[in-house]
Formats: sequence, structure tokens, C-alpha cells
Amino acid sequence: MCGIVGYVGRPKSLEVLLGGLGRLEYRGYDSAGVAIITAGGDLVTRKRAGKLAVLVDDLKADALEDGSTGIGHTRWATHGGPTDQNAHPHLSRDGKLALIHNGIIENFSVLKAELLADGYTFESETDTEVAAKLLGREYDKGDGLAAALGRVVVRLEGAFTLLALHKDEPGVVVGARRNSPLVIGLGDGENFLGSDVAAFVEHTRRAVAIGQDQIVTITPTSVLVTDFFGTEVEASEFQVSWDASAAEKGGWSSFMAKEISEQPEAVANTLRTRIVDGAVVLPDLGELDAELSDVDRIVIIACGTASYAGMLGKYAIEKWARLPIEVQLSHEFRYSEPVLTPTTLVISISQSGETMDTLMAVKYAIEAGAKTLSICNTQGATIARESDAVIYTHAGPEVAVASTKAFVAQIAALYLFGLHLAAVRGTLSPEAIGEALGELSAIPAKLEQVLLTSTRITELAKWMSDTRAVLFLGRHVGYPVALEGALKLKELAYIHAEGFAAGELKHGPIALIEPGQPVFVVVPSPRDPNSLHAKVVSNIQEIRARGARILAVAEQGDAAVLPFADEVIPIPLAGALFEPLLAVVPLQIFAMELATAKGLDVDQPRNLAKSVTVE
Ligand code: M6R
Repeated sequence: MCGIVGYVGRPKSLEVLLGGLGRLEYRGYDSAGVAIITAGGDLVTRKRAGKLAVLVDDLKADALEDGSTGIGHTRWATHGGPTDQNAHPHLSRDGKLALIHNGIIENFSVLKAELLADGYTFESETDTEVAAKLLGREYDKGDGLAAALGRVVVRLEGAFTLLALHKDEPGVVVGARRNSPLVIGLGDGENFLGSDVAAFVEHTRRAVAIGQDQIVTITPTSVLVTDFFGTEVEASEFQVSWDASAAEKGGWSSFMAKEISEQPEAVANTLRTRIVDGAVVLPDLGELDAELSDVDRIVIIACGTASYAGMLGKYAIEKWARLPIEVQLSHEFRYSEPVLTPTTLVISISQSGETMDTLMAVKYAIEAGAKTLSICNTQGATIARESDAVIYTHAGPEVAVASTKAFVAQIAALYLFGLHLAAVRGTLSPEAIGEALGELSAIPAKLEQVLLTSTRITELAKWMSDTRAVLFLGRHVGYPVALEGALKLKELAYIHAEGFAAGELKHGPIALIEPGQPVFVVVPSPRDPNSLHAKVVSNIQEIRARGARILAVAEQGDAAVLPFADEVIPIPLAGALFEPLLAVVPLQIFAMELATAKGLDVDQPRNLAKSVTVE
């Protein structure tokens, strides 16, 4: 969950590292640090607890000598609190080598004991410092940084990306990865390393993904990728499809506000080129496409917001393709000893494509012989590369920790896949598929309309900034929307929020209702074929009778809700399965505005990180 940058090239390391760290700060923001080999050949470092801005101010007050080789880190604390000492980089015993790390070294205490017995002392509580000391010891054997790194990484258990430099090897940065991301950026007379392409996209859009258990050595003019034992391996280059401006705020008050506004485009881009003459075209599926007719069961795995997209995928794909589908949280999946066969399709959903819980679940599914498909937003991400096939959501870079545009793009991708599967299995007529695709294609324009209603939600959020608890209710596809509304409010505004299936209320949660309790209700359309509208209106009456304050997200013109709601937030008309793509937006805006009204940082909420690369 940390952000990592490496650079070799021109004497402007600090500028490259700080720029890259700024774009990677979403990955962790407890502390930040840099190490540079100066033009004079010294190794200099600076690191500070707090957000990157603290380090930047410190460097302004007391400049650090620049150079053409450097590494930089922004941390999400695991071992040891967010202090100056625990911030990265960490140094070898002789202070000539600096190392940064993302992940967790699970056997660090055994290795630390070995080093302590050897007379080493430690300045931090981190697992990372153990790797730095080990690497320094191996380096002293005299066969160079990459070879030394190879001997260290084979001793490490857990997940890691490591970058290191040594003052005796100016112009060289080495890196290694296992179950944690690392990408190379190819420049002209300069090369880059980063946790993701955002680290260097300002300088180059040519990138190379590094595989599992590989080591990379970059110099200004060369890139060498090997396995942990020094044997060269081939690595494939790809072009980053977005530019640096896509990862900038562009005049918005926050990345989250910008990303909410980009939702129409995120859905449109995910659909683009994949609907041709009223049918789904998914060349992305490659060889998996021919095997889809064998699939007799689907398991969807994901975490957080992505898992709610998965729940929506279940409603739609089960209905359209008539296959049993279950949705599991990735971190629970493999511990339940799931029954997986070669005819099971495991679909993982992940914006980052690096979520460790989901990656481990995908690996488990592969080992069990299941087919795997990834719905992913990040090009070249590990989960995408491990899976048999990937459908990329083209939402563009999502920087704010709270997921918004990735969520709607994930739903769009799942729906495309569901309709394609229905065509393969012959469970829907071409006309019915064409009709559903028409609904899906209309979503971007309808999202534009929803965004226009945001002023009223902002006012509501301001009035409610002292609220201590909010409940969210929904039924059928409205239920995952309720869960997502509650998650957004928890993570951004630090308010206790719960999402419930409205039918479950009477089985316990209704006891929570007391006079004044705000309850958001996601109301199904009165045109809903399951006739759930009347049931939800009854649920509203039940809680209103007990004093709840009702905030209804309902279809425009839904007159039946008006008498019972304190506030109605209208959304455009859409087919039942498509309403969630619209209904979620007011809830996202509400959480963002309420957090803003409380003076909180909506892009970087406390204790969280965008990409959860530890288990
Ligand atoms: O990158 P992923 O989609 O795998 O991330 C999964 C969750 O960690 C993520 O959706 C998280 O719940 C968000 N912060 C919610 O806004």
C-alpha cells in the first residue's frame, strides 16, 4: 500500500521523485522520504512523518543536494507507527545503501534475530530495515547490487516490492517484486520505476510490466529484467493509454469531485467499441471465449466497493445467462475451501488490479483449475496478468481513495459480459440483448442528468454535518447500492453508517430507528417487474411511523413516495437492473459533501490507502 518511485538519468532526481510521489500518494500517506546519489557521489536521504507536503516543506527549508539517481517512497504504515524513524528509505549498516519497500516481510523477526546476533543495530521498528541491513551485508560480498538483491529476496517470505541504490554504483537503481506491483518507465537517456505508471506518466508513456519474482536493473540507457537467480527474462512493453493531465485535479476541489463528474465518460469509454450492431463484442476474452459454453457456475470475488459491483453483476448475469453465481469477499474466499472445477469461472473485480486479498484468491482459483476472468481498471496490473482473460474498465486513473467512477465502470463491464454470456448460452434473444444494450448505452447521458441535481444534495449534506449515524435501505439491486452508500459515508465522513436489505428491517435493524434517525432509501421504480416498489414504500411507512427522517432516491415522477419522504432525490427513468448506475451517484456526492462540511480530506481519508497490497 506504499508508493514507490525510482529514477536514473538527468541531474533532476528530486523533481522526478517528488512529482511521482505526489501522484502515488493515494497509495499511502503516513510518511514520505527520498534517497539520492549526488553529483559528488554522496548518498543523501530525507524522510518525514506526515503527508508528502511535510517532506516538501522540509526540503524547501533545508535543501537536499540533487543528483541523477534516486528512490522515493510514500508510506502506509504496517510495522511501526508513522514516525520519522519508521519512514523509508532505510539504510545499510555502513550507510552506503538505501532501500524502500512496499508490502510485508512476514519472516522479518527471524531475519532480524539473525542480524542482531551478528551485532547489527536497528533504528526503526520496520520489517523494511531488516531487508536494508541484509542487502548491505550481501553487497559487501562484491558481486554488485542486483546479485546481492537476488540473494536477499529468496530469503524473504511475504509480499514485497523493493528498490535500492548504492553510493558505489551511481546511475543504477535495482528493484525486485513478489506479489506487489512494480512497473518500468522507458525514457530517452533516463529510466523510471514505479508502483504504477502514474509515477512516471508525466515523463513517458512507454511502460514495461515486471513479472512475479523478477529483478530489474535500470541505468540511464539500459533496462535488464532477470529472475531472482540472474537469468534474463523477456518483458513486454505497453503504451499507457492516458496522460499526466488525467491524473491531475484539473480545477476540481478534490480528485473525488473530479472522478464523480467523470462517471458518464467512464461508462461510455468502457462500452466503446464493445457494442457493435446491437451485440456485444469482447475480443478481450481471447481463448476464454471459446470455453464459455462449458461454464456451469460463476464465483465473483472482490473487496469493498468492487464486491458491491459484483453483487450487481450477480443479479444481472444470473437473470440473463441463467447460471448460478455467488459473490464472495476475496479475503474469505479461499478459507471457505470453495468447490472449484474446470467448469467454474471465477471473476475477480479490482480497480487497482493489485489488491492482495483478491490476487491471492485468483491464484487459489488458478491452482484449483478454475477459469479466471478479471475486471480491472489498471493496465498491466498483476491480477489482470495472472487471469486467463481481462476486461479492462476504461475509467481512467482513479486517484481518490473512495472508489466512484471505477464502480460504475465495473458494473458496465459486468453487464457487457453478462449479455455476451447470454448470447453464448442462447438464454436471451438477440432482440432482448439489443434492448438491454440500448439501456446500457443510455446510461452516460442519464448520469449527466443526475450530476446536475447535485446542488440539492450538497445543501442536505451541510445541514446534516452533525449527524452521528445514517442508515441506508434498498431491495434487490438497490441493496448493493445501499451498502455502497453506507461504505462511502463511513470511509469519508467517519460516521457510523449501515446498509440493509429493506426486507431485513423487521428482523432486527428496525430497533435502531428512533425519532430523527436519517434513513436513505433506494426506491425501485414503480415500473419494476418484481413489484418491489410497493413493498419498499411500505418499509418507508414502517420506519417513518417510528420517527425516521426519510431521504428517498427515487425515479422522477414517482408520486407514491412523495407523501412519505422528507426529501426526494430524483433519478432518471431506467430499467430495473440499470437503476443502480444512477442511484449510487447522489449517495457518493452526499458522503463527499458531508465529509467536506466536516472539514475532512475526502481524497485521503484517515487510516486508508487506495491500493490494499497487504493481506
Ligand atoms: O482496487 P480494488 O478495486 O481491488 O479495491 C477494493 C477495495 O479496497 C476498494 O473498493 C475500497 O473499498 C474503496 N476504498 C471503497 O471506496
